[in-house]
Amino acid sequence: MPPTGAEGLGDGFYPFLGNGGYDAIHYEIDLDVDPAANTVSALTSITAQATDDLETFNLDLQGLEVRSVAVDGAGAEFRRSGHELTVRPASPLAAGSQFEVSVSYSGSPETLDDPGVPFSEMGWLHRDGVIYTLGEPSGSMTWFPSNNHPTDKATYEIGITVPEGVTAASNGLLTSETTAGGKTTFEWRMDDPMATYLAAVYIGDFERIDHGPLYDGGPIIRDYVPRGASPDVAQALSVTPDVIAFLEERLGPYPFDAYGTIVMPFPLGLALENQTLSIHGPATIGPGIIAHEAAHQWLGNSVSPDDWTEIWMNEGFATYLHLMFESEHFATDFDATMTQVHAWLSAEGIGPPKGIGIEDLFGPTVYYRGAATLHALRLHTGDETFFEILRTHYDRSAGGTTNTAEFLTLVDEMAGADAVELVEAWLYDEAVPDTL
Ligand code: TRP
Ligand code: ZN
Repeated sequence: MPPTGAEGLGDGFYPFLGNGGYDAIHYEIDLDVDPAANTVSALTSITAQATDDLETFNLDLQGLEVRSVAVDGAGAEFRRSGHELTVRPASPLAAGSQFEVSVSYSGSPETLDDPGVPFSEMGWLHRDGVIYTLGEPSGSMTWFPSNNHPTDKATYEIGITVPEGVTAASNGLLTSETTAGGKTTFEWRMDDPMATYLAAVYIGDFERIDHGPLYDGGPIIRDYVPRGASPDVAQALSVTPDVIAFLEERLGPYPFDAYGTIVMPFPLGLALENQTLSIHGPATIGPGIIAHEAAHQWLGNSVSPDDWTEIWMNEGFATYLHLMFESEHFATDFDATMTQVHAWLSAEGIGPPKGIGIEDLFGPTVYYRGAATLHALRLHTGDETFFEILRTHYDRSAGGTTNTAEFLTLVDEMAGADAVELVEAWLYDEAVPDTL
């Protein structure tokens, strides 16, 4: 058998997302987009390191037409089956060697159905002249080839060329904007490790609002709103500096160079924490949901789940922090809020976050029983130990991934076996524990 990179990483919910045999280090994605026709002409180059000897390896790409593939500048054979793009370099790759694979492709990106996200279309979306992407968990493979799993983070440069007058935004910092021959190219750079699902492209008639650095040496805050949006939108977003300050106090310095929100011009009943530039709808820009997506920048984006079955570590933590922020912002009684959450979980018989099926990936089990798990731990340990656990949890895995087992090890170290037992009951037992 020739050495072959595996076509999946064996994720508990998405066994065929990601690929074996190499580590992606850097993505350079260049998209020339016709927003009216919703077509792209694209080149994605991935710098990667082989972890096995490879005669072939896979990338994840769904839809579009692949024109050619090259490895280290030499034409490579390729084959496609579903979202698996199999590449056979002209000469095999040796374990440990670094290589660059370039994929030239074009067409009209397709959306995809993700069984974990029954409430939304996923991937590259086109609506009312606006293009936006929703990647979590699987959708990014509709617009660039990748190792599509959070265990393989990389840095990114994303260049987007659009007709002059149109705005294009993505992750990180806007490093240049150049216009020639009626087209403008926006170059974006993400210098910190990013999971594929958090990469984003936004194209449309948006206005950028710059707020400058949060403090000397702090992240820059910038938002994008539909041109001509009501002043209420900017007003709603003005809570962001308070949100970031609140989260920095509890988790440590903001993980990236920039943060902000992009608001869509049409109703969008959800929000998504795309790295450094979360997408919201006009009706999802309240303080709670802004705090939720901002909290994900630490917990979810900097510290990512190493398997999609660990999703409570994103959503339970973000929900807990957003409820805390909301309570402070509106001066309500936080313990009373959590008591209500507990009563509701009990009344509904909401099952354990670690016992979900894929269809409940982003359901109340994960969000609210996940948040209540943390509150129960806090009541058990007291505030001081709890916040030390929270901060250390973030700190230990910043820029990488984690899982429940690592969290329980930390709880054991800082709060002992009783605390572990309590957290386990919340995460694994069918019944909602009687008391918080
Ligand atoms: N992570 C999002 C949140 O903060 C929820 C979400 C997951 C989502 N996948 C999505 C939203 C896809 C829109 C599209 O709650
Ligand atoms: Zn969330």
